[in-house]
Amino acid sequence: MPLRFPDGFLWGSATASHQVEGGNTESDWAAWEQQPDRIVGGAKAGAAAMWWAGRAEEDLSRAAELGHNAHRMSLEWSRLEPSPGVYDLTAFERYREILAHARKLGLATSVTVDHFTLPKWAAASRSWHDPALIERFATFAAQSVRQLGDVVDMWATINEPNVLALLGYAYGRWPPGERGNRSFLRALANLLRAHALGYRAMKAERADASIGLVLSMPYFAPFRPTRTDRAATRGQDWIFNGALLSTLQHGRLPPPLSLTGTPIEHMVGAYDWIGLNYYGCYKVKFDATKPHRAFGIHVDDGNIKTATSDWGAPHPAGLVAQLERLSVLGVPLFVTENGIFDNEDRLRPRYLVDHVRAVYDAIAKGVDVRGYFHWSLIDNFEWAEGWSTRFGLIGLDVATQQRTVKRSAQLYARICASNGIPDDLPEAS
Ligand code: FCB
Repeated sequence: MPLRFPDGFLWGSATASHQVEGGNTESDWAAWEQQPDRIVGGAKAGAAAMWWAGRAEEDLSRAAELGHNAHRMSLEWSRLEPSPGVYDLTAFERYREILAHARKLGLATSVTVDHFTLPKWAAASRSWHDPALIERFATFAAQSVRQLGDVVDMWATINEPNVLALLGYAYGRWPPGERGNRSFLRALANLLRAHALGYRAMKAERADASIGLVLSMPYFAPFRPTRTDRAATRGQDWIFNGALLSTLQHGRLPPPLSLTGTPIEHMVGAYDWIGLNYYGCYKVKFDATKPHRAFGIHVDDGNIKTATSDWGAPHPAGLVAQLERLSVLGVPLFVTENGIFDNEDRLRPRYLVDHVRAVYDAIAKGVDVRGYFHWSLIDNFEWAEGWSTRFGLIGLDVATQQRTVKRSAQLYARICASNGIPDDLPEAS
């Protein structure tokens, strides 16, 4: 039996400004890439996929030709507010061109105000450790709605606050390179406050704007069925996923993130939809020497990883579980990212079909999922992994800027065209 999704389901892919635009010199990431040993192979985003210089339109046209009916992208704050309170209206115009083009092609537009990068001026004053950035973000988000509200169908405030807080403020692997639990907590609290205040400011600008938050929620499972492995799994899941979900519901960071239940002002109800970014599952094994990681280490179980990054093992059932879990928030859900680093496009076809089927299963269980965005439309600059890990449906030769439509893109095109999984898809069985 072919699987058919509800009418109006959004099928798209996602990109983020710094990863595809190129020529971005004013962000904290641009500065970070100049430092030795920050990025695999000393790589830089450089020209990236040249979206800023004019190639966004042709790639969006490719997406439309491949049957997508939506696209998720983000704004580069450092271009739009080059110094505090000063907006570059020409840069807003460039985004308007791109978004209007997407709309003309029949792509619904989903725009994330901030996807990891900060302007250098924000980095110069302690990045997300600076409480003043909360208000600055909210003002910038409202300004973005004022400038672009008529060409955007869905807004998200911030991409994956938990991932950014962990990699940039606990592990020091991303800018600003801070480490430690207190540092993590302060950044996470401020990011969540920025979301909540941003949501209010954007609504004040345009009451009918649809505004969400995008969360990364990997699945955690015990390595062995022992009490200790299960306890470590619960601990990691709570710290990374559960505590955040609880904060969205109750407006306070719960223990152990905050012993005092630090309030996140304006959070309750500050989302019209939630975006889930889902990549895979971590198998957790008890380790008495790792109190700061809830006494758990991750065991490799066919994980998709490099020496420095680990996206977990493909586990479509985890996507169903996380969607079901998010449904307690009572708002529509979107899978805003799901994909696999696979430079040869060998694993991606199966991964893609299995995860689309998982979304179907979630819907069949009554979860209100409205769209699926594959990460990513095109190979792009993957943060600390640089150009070494390719996630695109479309291949990119960075030197020649040549694009190649991969087999998985053709497969996804068939899914988009049939609004589901047709029977004769080789990967459908
Ligand atoms: C997510 C990020 C996205 C991309 C994918 C692989 O955490 O949101 O920018 O790097 O991982």
